[in-house]
Amino acid sequence: MVQSDTPSGGQPHRTVLPQAKAYQFVDHTFDVVVVGAGGSGLRATLGAAQAGLKTACITKVFPTRSHTVAAQGGVAASLGNMGKDDWRWHMYDTVKGSDWLGDQDAIEYLVREAPAAVYELEHFGVPFSRTEDGRIYQRPFGGMTTEFGEGPAAQRTCAAADRTGHAILHTLYGQSLRYSSEFFIEYFAIDLIMDEEGACRGVVALCMDDGTLHRFRAKKTILATGGYGRAYFSATSAHTCTGDGNAMVLRAGLPLQDMEFVQFHPTGIYGAGCLITEGARGEGGYLTNSEGERFMERYAPSAKDLASRDVVSRSMTMEIREGRGVGKNKDHIFLHLDHLDPKILAERLPGISESARIFAGVDVTREPIPVLPTVHYNMGGIPTNYHGEVLTKKNGNADTVVPGLMAVGEAACVSVHGANRLGSNSLIDLVVFGRAAALRCAETVAAGESHEPLPADAGDNSLARLDRFRHASGGTSTAELRDRMQRTMQSNCAVFRTGEVLEEGHTKIHEVWHGSEDIAVKDRSLVWNTDLIETLEYDNLISQAVVTMDSALARQESRGAHAREDFPDRDDQNWMKHTLSFCDTVNKTITLDDRPVHTYTLSNQIEYIKPKKRVY
Ligand code: FUM
Repeated sequence: MVQSDTPSGGQPHRTVLPQAKAYQFVDHTFDVVVVGAGGSGLRATLGAAQAGLKTACITKVFPTRSHTVAAQGGVAASLGNMGKDDWRWHMYDTVKGSDWLGDQDAIEYLVREAPAAVYELEHFGVPFSRTEDGRIYQRPFGGMTTEFGEGPAAQRTCAAADRTGHAILHTLYGQSLRYSSEFFIEYFAIDLIMDEEGACRGVVALCMDDGTLHRFRAKKTILATGGYGRAYFSATSAHTCTGDGNAMVLRAGLPLQDMEFVQFHPTGIYGAGCLITEGARGEGGYLTNSEGERFMERYAPSAKDLASRDVVSRSMTMEIREGRGVGKNKDHIFLHLDHLDPKILAERLPGISESARIFAGVDVTREPIPVLPTVHYNMGGIPTNYHGEVLTKKNGNADTVVPGLMAVGEAACVSVHGANRLGSNSLIDLVVFGRAAALRCAETVAAGESHEPLPADAGDNSLARLDRFRHASGGTSTAELRDRMQRTMQSNCAVFRTGEVLEEGHTKIHEVWHGSEDIAVKDRSLVWNTDLIETLEYDNLISQAVVTMDSALARQESRGAHAREDFPDRDDQNWMKHTLSFCDTVNKTITLDDRPVHTYTLSNQIEYIKPKKRVY
């Protein structure tokens, strides 16, 4: 019935489900399959293809629509173009920003590779903004300092105006097309193919355009599927950020790590949620309350508006709670750029000037922008080592590599961001670890090497799940369940948390999860069935929402983005460890475990940075 017309020479395979509904797979064989075409997915695709490996990239949106396109302020690397800098200072800031939950071997890898990764982007053609003498322009960003936190703010964030992600994504897509990788665009990845030994053998996907189903066999499957911001009601993330890879990992019986750490960006536009870059404060912007006070001076006397994101978001929330919010309902804060030279705004912040006009009706040269902390980034995700290999806990060893499976970008938890990511450390994470994963593939996969036959039932579980949702005829729409999930996460797993609020959140989110049995899908077709795709995405989101809530309830301390009012202090004695969360999606149960933080560096060129009180 369905024949592959791709050069990968797909072979049809017939599967009969218990419901006697027949589906057919088109089979493909690759050395490497990358799922996702954002910054990390494209960098991994490009690297694997460059190494001579037969590489496919599967993506649910056209590559240049991936969410990396929305990244604004920049990419961190200690180039030292605007003043002295050192990778060791970048490492110190990242460890401190992570509130000592980051793995220091991985952080060393990130910051040491960062300058070369940025120069590589420059040579690929990224149109970085320039200094007078033609070097890459770098701006200050929150938590980035010099002299191990003792010196002035570092200008470390390399920027292409305030459209850095856009510039990087388009350039990487152009570069990927130079090599012979194959793109499967608007293919929705449904599930991993795991064998009986627990190795990943590829992935099952639905071609949304014509409704065909595909099995991609690979020596290495790299998940680059991004974060799951859309588990919340208000997020800077695109509606496509549904953490599909994270959910596939949970369904494969593997753990996610540190899911309680959800970053709120201080400056989402009030009401709309769109991002106003931290670069706005890097260029001199500042926050005020209803009394016109620059309140950050009280909370972070040294870094002020450029303290790290968790600190600024909490300070804004406290101002609002204490009645000093702005607006009719005193429920947001003002961000001022109106004192800055309009020429600077036009040159360095054109994108957010436009966003403020469109989404808040504000002329930034004259009026402040109404802003509110908004969900922005997931520090948690699929546990990996710094090569991008996925880890699980086996026989007590939490660093056991899962054969055949890798993860990069926001989907992964390497963990370089620990409990709180510093702004502009995300774009550098994408390119450094996208490249690292490709290098690992080149080391471990022989091009064209033959594959073991697939298990006879490979992909059948995925088809059964797809079929169940396609024919779901319950009484609750996907939109209603999604709305309940998003509102529960927004109010019960927010900037500040208490045991009581999290207990209530746990009850509510488990109710939504169980309520998913009553889901209703109206469109039964397989071709451009957005009702079905949104349902699959919702199912992916809800399992992540549940492990996020349960991990947050379990962690009885405050660290980074996880601020427990009932446990206000960091507790290194009991909690300097990663949370591992396993999810039985059939019986709807969660199991939590842990994994030690790597308290060692990669080389002897820097010593382990010992925990201390985190003040800005
Ligand atoms: O504020 C921003 O431009 C966001 C950057 C980031 O999340 O790294």
